[in-house]
Amino acid sequence: MKDIYILGIESSCDEMSASIIKNGNEEIKTIILSQMDIHKKYGGVVPEIASRCHIESATMVLEELFSDIDISFKDITAIAVTHGPGLIGSLLVGLQIAKTLSFVYQKPLIPVHHIAGHIYANNLVKEMQFPLLCLVVSGGHTDLIYMKDHFEFEKIGGTLDDAVGECYDKVARIMNIPYPGGPVIDKLAHKGAHTYHLPLPLDDDSFNFSFSGLKSAVINLVHNEKQRNNEINVENLCTTFQDNVVEIISKKTMKAIQKFNIKNLAICGGVSANSGLREKFEILCKKNNINLSMPSIKYCTDNAAMIATAGFFAYQKGIKSDMSLNAKATESLKEYIQNYK
Ligand code: KG4
Ligand code: ZN
Repeated sequence: MKDIYILGIESSCDEMSASIIKNGNEEIKTIILSQMDIHKKYGGVVPEIASRCHIESATMVLEELFSDIDISFKDITAIAVTHGPGLIGSLLVGLQIAKTLSFVYQKPLIPVHHIAGHIYANNLVKEMQFPLLCLVVSGGHTDLIYMKDHFEFEKIGGTLDDAVGECYDKVARIMNIPYPGGPVIDKLAHKGAHTYHLPLPLDDDSFNFSFSGLKSAVINLVHNEKQRNNEINVENLCTTFQDNVVEIISKKTMKAIQKFNIKNLAICGGVSANSGLREKFEILCKKNNINLSMPSIKYCTDNAAMIATAGFFAYQKGIKSDMSLNAKATESLKEYIQNYK
């Protein structure tokens, strides 16, 4: 079989990234340019700044990608791009680049749903096995997705309000931890003890999640302690918060595994870099004989390697678009498959 090289482009939030993946599992090269330091001073991503920075950095990222490798545009089989969901201005930059390259080099254009990308980051670690339960935990999503096979997504649960990464970042802010707070809370959580009382959010029989109550509980706790002139033990609060997050996510995921009798679990998204979550799933999956897959830390957060990998499987499934492809700020996986198959 002829080798398939997919060029992936990802720009849905504050990372501009390009990658080349061979045959859906072999990384040729990936460039990720993060704007984190720029957005840090505003306490979160400023959409207008993000898209402007993408415009400034896109050419540089692509030039860097094709430097020092013996692959050129003519070797590329198809171009995969995140068309949504995400920040509309940010998405449009990556999308316009992909459409231009597709037109100039006459290569097929493959729209890739950002969450499909996160899921397929797992195929860079080991071959995905089906049926598969995917836990997507990121800044914008907290979903449980059942996959019977490649590119067959069935959502069985999701967050009713805040996404878990969003909750991490908001809770961090109240503790004066800079953006993005998730990785810092994760580090501090390892230094503290579970001393505070926080609720275990939406501890019910559903496969849905809710994090706004937990977020409000932390905010109220910090305010109340301040009013009483009591000092907050940030490390202990981080430990308590992270324990509760990991507990509810792992509890519902394992329940879904049992109910649907699944033997394969893949976790993904920015929060899958969380050491508490990774440790917990390693223990639980070993105990229950579940085949666990987690992306390498580098590919938990946004990157184009995951988009090119998903693009490979989308290409096999006949998912493609013409030049009318537009960016989508919101789109479910179900709508995605319906729209482009
Ligand atoms: O997947 P991602 O890069 O962007 C979205 O698609 O949303 O995820 C970013 C999110 C941020 O909320 C960030 O705080 C969180 O992932 N995150 C973490 C960790 N590393 C990144 N949250 C908890 N623990 C971490 N180690
Ligand atoms: Zn993401």
